[in-house]
Amino acid sequence: MEIVLCCPGAAPEPWLKGLAAALPQARVSEWRPGLPVADYAVVWAPPQAMLDEQAGVKALFAMGAGVDALLQRQLPPQTLLVRLDDAGMAVQMAEYVCHAVARYSRGFAAYEADATRAVWQQRLPRLRADCPIGIMGLGVLGRRVAQALRDLGYPVHGWSRTPQVLDGVVSHHGPQGLPGFLASCQVLVNLLPLTPLTRDILNRDTLGRLRPGAYLVNVARGAHLVEEDLLALLDSGQLSGATLDVFRTEPLPADHPFWQHPRLTLTPHISALTQREESIAQIACKIDALERGETVAGVVDVARGY
Ligand SMILES: NC(=O)c1ccc[n+]([C@@H]2O[C@H](COP(=O)([O-])OP(=O)(O)OC[C@H]3O[C@@H](n4cnc5c(N)ncnc54)[C@H](OP(=O)(O)O)[C@@H]3O)[C@@H](O)[C@H]2O)c1
Repeated sequence: MEIVLCCPGAAPEPWLKGLAAALPQARVSEWRPGLPVADYAVVWAPPQAMLDEQAGVKALFAMGAGVDALLQRQLPPQTLLVRLDDAGMAVQMAEYVCHAVARYSRGFAAYEADATRAVWQQRLPRLRADCPIGIMGLGVLGRRVAQALRDLGYPVHGWSRTPQVLDGVVSHHGPQGLPGFLASCQVLVNLLPLTPLTRDILNRDTLGRLRPGAYLVNVARGAHLVEEDLLALLDSGQLSGATLDVFRTEPLPADHPFWQHPRLTLTPHISALTQREESIAQIACKIDALERGETVAGVVDVARGY
């Protein structure tokens, strides 16, 4: 079995070694122009030439959970595209979002400011019942985040394309369910995939429907958020702040107004990083399953965009 790896910008050696160890029957090579078509390809941001040349692979494995960038390329028709599902990302995402929610609901930013001036001042905490959290996207990551917040005692709402059932989570779905979902959120967490239907979904209209003084956590994709609308809603007081991990342009340009904004907390797209060992184990298991003629989780519906 031949496996080709293509991940420009990332160090290929640990992936080549890891895949070879997990699939001893396979020969694993880094892609270069002219290589014969492999059985399987493992990719992150591959050049179009690689996708064209390797059009006959049995499956293309993405080294991430989101495939929006890959779907902007021309994929060979009928390609089985498989993304990472969880592979160690869900727990990181839950940890990141719980941290952002606690920072907002417990007022940690104010205590941090107090500490720089040696001020000892206790404030009444916000009641959990007054801090319902809404999660857009109840998929692999959204469900894990919802469970973690529910277990911390927050009222949790979720919004998805199709109806989803999750214990202790109030579920909303579809465009008709969006206004009611938004109206119930004090904190909005975005964990949608980026598709034609979700691009720009965090805008003046949707964010304006949140409870007054709401807080936004965007950990999905920068192109979900209309950045000027966020700034306007922060200025008007409709939103009290946001934690942003993803941006329309990454790295975020040094002169971007977000950097200087006092009510924004920014991180450089690190809320859930690909875990190499778990990802390799998952891809190897899926290749074994496909070889046995079984179906695997994480197959992308290319027409739907996720
Ligand atoms: N910042 C980071 O470090 C980082 C890391 C990993 C992933 N991510 C982002 O997180 C995203 C989510 O990952 P995941 O693995 O949880 O994806 P997933 O399992 O595919 O879940 C996607 C969820 O979004 C819902 N959805 C999709 N389109 C919708 C629409 N038009 N209206 C309402 N709901 C819609 C789906 O609804 P159904 O349940 O009805 O299908 C599903 O619940 C990824 O696509 C990626 O962009 C970011």
